[in-house]
Amino acid sequence: MALWILLAIMLVCGEQFAEAAKVVPVSMRRTKARSATHKRGGLSPRRLIPLTNAVSMTLYEIDITIGTPAQPITLDIDTGSSDIWMYSNPVYLDCKTCLGGSFDPDASSTSTMIKQDGFSIVYGDSTGASGDYFSDIFGLGGTAIENVTVAVATNLSFWPVIAPSIMGIGLDVNEAITDDGSTPYPGLLSHMVDQGLINTRTYSLWLDDLDAATGTILFGGYDTNRYIGNLTILEIQPDPLSGIYWAFLVPWTSLTLTTSSGPTLLTSDTFNAPALLDSGTSFTLLPSDVYNELAIYLGAYPNETVQQILVPCDIGEGSLDFGFGGSSAPIVSVPFAELAPLAFDLKTGDPVFLEDGTQACSFGIGEAEGVIALGDSFLRSAYVVYDLDSKLIGLAQSDFDCTSSNVVEIQTGLEPFGLTAG
Ligand SMILES: *[C@@H]1O[C@H](CO)[C@@H](O)[C@H](O)[C@H]1NC(C)=O
Ligand SMILES: *[C@@H]1O[C@H](CO)[C@@H](O)[C@H](O)[C@H]1NC(C)=O
Ligand SMILES: *[C@@H]1O[C@H](CO)[C@@H](O)[C@H](O)[C@H]1NC(C)=O
Ligand SMILES: *[C@@H]1O[C@H](CO)[C@@H](O)[C@H](O)[C@H]1NC(C)=O
Repeated sequence: MALWILLAIMLVCGEQFAEAAKVVPVSMRRTKARSATHKRGGLSPRRLIPLTNAVSMTLYEIDITIGTPAQPITLDIDTGSSDIWMYSNPVYLDCKTCLGGSFDPDASSTSTMIKQDGFSIVYGDSTGASGDYFSDIFGLGGTAIENVTVAVATNLSFWPVIAPSIMGIGLDVNEAITDDGSTPYPGLLSHMVDQGLINTRTYSLWLDDLDAATGTILFGGYDTNRYIGNLTILEIQPDPLSGIYWAFLVPWTSLTLTTSSGPTLLTSDTFNAPALLDSGTSFTLLPSDVYNELAIYLGAYPNETVQQILVPCDIGEGSLDFGFGGSSAPIVSVPFAELAPLAFDLKTGDPVFLEDGTQACSFGIGEAEGVIALGDSFLRSAYVVYDLDSKLIGLAQSDFDCTSSNVVEIQTGLEPFGLTAG
């Protein structure tokens, strides 16, 4: 089990990080490109939002480089899948809607073909990509990581109008290569550990609030100044059917709607469902009964023209409070405002308007038909540490008002500091 100790380094939030011993900080940008459901398919192969095929919402993107000489690429960070893939150059070189660039392995002196035609992935929304696996030097936050397995997509299926390619950083066991019974390959985090960049396969994501255009991912560490109270440790839940630990499923045990007239518990006293922490899904996908209740309460309705579920941007005051399992039962409170990002017409990029002429917002909640996914509209309000080694999640309420940083290097085999077991 990887345990976590404090190695304090005082920094300023959102600014340059000092040389924290074994922590690799990388900043992320929020993109308006589209909504997505990037957990891997299988358990829930169907698209989860009625009407929607590709709507404008938000994802979090990161700049990396690949190959020698380094080819710059922008990828969507996805905690819900486990393969890193890029559009193929030359196949998608002139693709105007393939955001973030493409990778030409032939132009890299360090690329090695690992498995031709070996890559084929289908995400939870039925979108997919296929191609070849390569290994090459992966540049992340100014650090070169050698021999990282990435896929180069030469064929896309049901791929949305505008989208970057994907940086899946989930558990190795969920790699697409396992679909045909192949053993998983060591993922990016394993290489970072092997090369001594980080101590354990861990990272933390801080998306900041909707007003902020950036967030931070800290590989090998977390920042105690970016959350309120203590991190609560939750054990990753196995898939209820297979018993396999395949993804970042956490025990979600309650949902409370809190408004000026007080709290209303929307789930039963005995409610307990595994929910996927999925940065690659823009929305939070909840069970139908809860979704319908919230859609009515918050005035959400579909607009056929733009194929989106819209809400008035003036969504009111209140919060959705998510409770999680464990004796210390952490609550993550999501303000209504976080559930209503400005809506954009995907085809034109234009703002969308309600019938009364006011600007419309997208409804940040969708209906789960299978796996419940806590996507970006939830994750912005949470600070999450993902521990792939120990299969643990550290969870706390995000601190939007953070003004300084205090980065903790996560180490192996030491007592946790300031953490309460869930
Ligand atoms: C690179 O990675 C592959 C697959 O992970 C492995 O088989 C190979 O031995 C590695 N090569 C080097 C030079 O580390
Ligand atoms: C691309 O993928 C689709 C869906 O998996 C498949 O039907 C099609 O044959 C593939 N095309 C090529 C050229 O491989
Ligand atoms: C956080 O944990 C420390 C050490 O266990 C404890 O003293 C403190 O009261 C906790 N703080 C909160 C806000 O729970
Ligand atoms: C749907 O969106 C379009 C584009 O913004 C807008 O013109 C139309 O009024 C909207 N319709 C409804 C019913 O909101």
